[in-house]
Amino acid sequence: MKGPFVIAVDGPAASGKGTIATGLGKAFDLPVLDTGLLYRAVGVLTARAGGLGDPETCAAAAATLTADQLSDPALRTREAGELASQVAVHPHVRSALLEFQRTFASQEQGSVLDGRDIGTVICPQAPAKLYVTASPQVRAQRRWRQLKAQGEPVSLDEVLADIHIRDARDGGRDDAPMRPAPDAVLLDTSEMTIEQAADAARRIVEAARARWDGS
Ligand code: DC
Repeated sequence: MKGPFVIAVDGPAASGKGTIATGLGKAFDLPVLDTGLLYRAVGVLTARAGGLGDPETCAAAAATLTADQLSDPALRTREAGELASQVAVHPHVRSALLEFQRTFASQEQGSVLDGRDIGTVICPQAPAKLYVTASPQVRAQRRWRQLKAQGEPVSLDEVLADIHIRDARDGGRDDAPMRPAPDAVLLDTSEMTIEQAADAARRIVEAARARWDGS
């Protein structure tokens, strides 16, 4: 029996995957889960409680996380992204967040999830998989502009350094490292505007949807 129409959107920090996932949600009328927010919430909550260095405390925060904890604007900061990447290396944190993500993905109407391991670990059966990339320089520019608009005083060089650290940590961890699934379509958005990237993503998913409808 075929499962729901799940769209998995993976890729590194500031690749544009969040904007693409939101656009796909609108285009296909599907709910969207930004799974980075789960890790950001765990990082911020455990750091506030002084437990960041302890994997068990991080895992306990992950196990009790609720959807209403994901709307805190503090989760959108540069610091929250770094904390998220740090707690995301712990296998117990990842396994504690697995059910939340799979429950979201099991909605009958279908769904869009964006993250690092959606196509490989969370929803390996997803009928549509995208891996969104862009060069580190382009990603740093985008993230820097976003942070500046949020009022964060940070230099472009600092953001580029963050991106290199995050790429190495997210791609180098043992448990569910950031990787394109073998059946993911790669979308390099380095030379694209966000509208072009969103359009390209929509066309890829339309083709996947037609295959899924006919299966
Ligand atoms: O997508 P983001 O920048 O909000 O993610 C923040 C961090 O969370 C990212 O650097 C690694 C971690 N993360 C993860 O390990 N797996 C996911 N599915 C999503 C995010």
